[in-house]
Amino acid sequence: RPMFSQIPDSDLPSTVKTSFKITVVGVGNVGMACAQTCLTEDLVDELALVDIQADKLRGEMLDLQHAAAFLPRVKIVADCSYAVSAGSDICIVTAGARQREGETRLSLLDRNLSLFKSIIPELVRHSPDTILLIVSNPVDILTHLSWKLSGLPPNRVIGTGTNLDSSRLRFLIADKFDVNAHNIHGYMVGEHGDSSVPLWSSLTVANVPVLNLYDKNGVKYTKETLKEFHEAVVGSAYQVIKLKGYTSWAIGYSTASLVKSLLRDQRRIHPVSVRAKGFYGIEHDVYLSLPSQLGRAGVLGVANLPLEEDEMQELQQSAKAIWETQNKLHF
Ligand code: NAD
Ligand code: LAC
Repeated sequence: RPMFSQIPDSDLPSTVKTSFKITVVGVGNVGMACAQTCLTEDLVDELALVDIQADKLRGEMLDLQHAAAFLPRVKIVADCSYAVSAGSDICIVTAGARQREGETRLSLLDRNLSLFKSIIPELVRHSPDTILLIVSNPVDILTHLSWKLSGLPPNRVIGTGTNLDSSRLRFLIADKFDVNAHNIHGYMVGEHGDSSVPLWSSLTVANVPVLNLYDKNGVKYTKETLKEFHEAVVGSAYQVIKLKGYTSWAIGYSTASLVKSLLRDQRRIHPVSVRAKGFYGIEHDVYLSLPSQLGRAGVLGVANLPLEEDEMQELQQSAKAIWETQNKLHF
């Protein structure tokens, strides 16, 4: 079978732009971490910020503008009106409620649903060619909602998904082997959050399968001993929220890495939230994370990894869990 299942109509646009505009909606902890990381990584020529809090918005804009002598030349604008976002190549949506201590991502749905109904149509009206990159939680359901509200093709509506969970997993395993996390290849897929699925059968340390490998302390890695890593990843956000009130830096870097693959047509594979129906036997119409190839046109394809039976079942379960929550909504 082919390495990738191609997404139809995912060819590059006929004209290739060399200057990029990004809009960030929501200038809270996450929005500003995304904005700052995109600036530092020199991914943007014009940055537009949108929020409902006019003073905070202007304060954040000025604070970033004052870094002009230390950053590449960037136009930074901000407004409560979406007109400021016109002509964006990517719109990153981070607006909305976040979890309080112990609260699940799914519990945010009611609060964030209505915001999205006002945000997404406005973004698309001003930037019909944009790629929407959704960060707000619950990210999988809100990405599905954004796709519906936007009228855009699904390959241009993407959720940051388990790109972050996968980095958390790679960090934890890298630490046990005392190697760079870049030498850990592997994905978490499914829901960003509680029903995420680690793909142990394809996870490697410097190209050696992790299953049956011994770490630096002589611990043999089996599906049983690896369970605690998955639990730690699922618990990561709860832990950080308990300690500092919110998560921001890791999602900021995760988002910038996705922006880089998209705008610079890097064609790297990221586990991100995509319209999953039809891939890996998923029948529900849900967004969830699958290893996806990203380029200038958005999602170019979904990688066909060989999954073991239990991994396939867990992925189906994750799709079902998302679908059951999503199905209660009327959008
Ligand atoms: P925050 O409270 O610091 O910021 C939210 C911002 O949204 C505020 O500035 C608020 O004014 C703004 N806002 C509210 N309604 C708006 C509207 N209608 N239009 C424009 N702006 C609006 O919260 P945060 O810590 O930045 O978290 C934001 C979201 O990101 C939460 O839903 C959180 O769960 C999510 N998050 C997702 C991930 C992920 O991996 N997907 C990681 C961390 C946080
Ligand atoms: C995260 C958020 C809370 O950091 O979804 O995983």
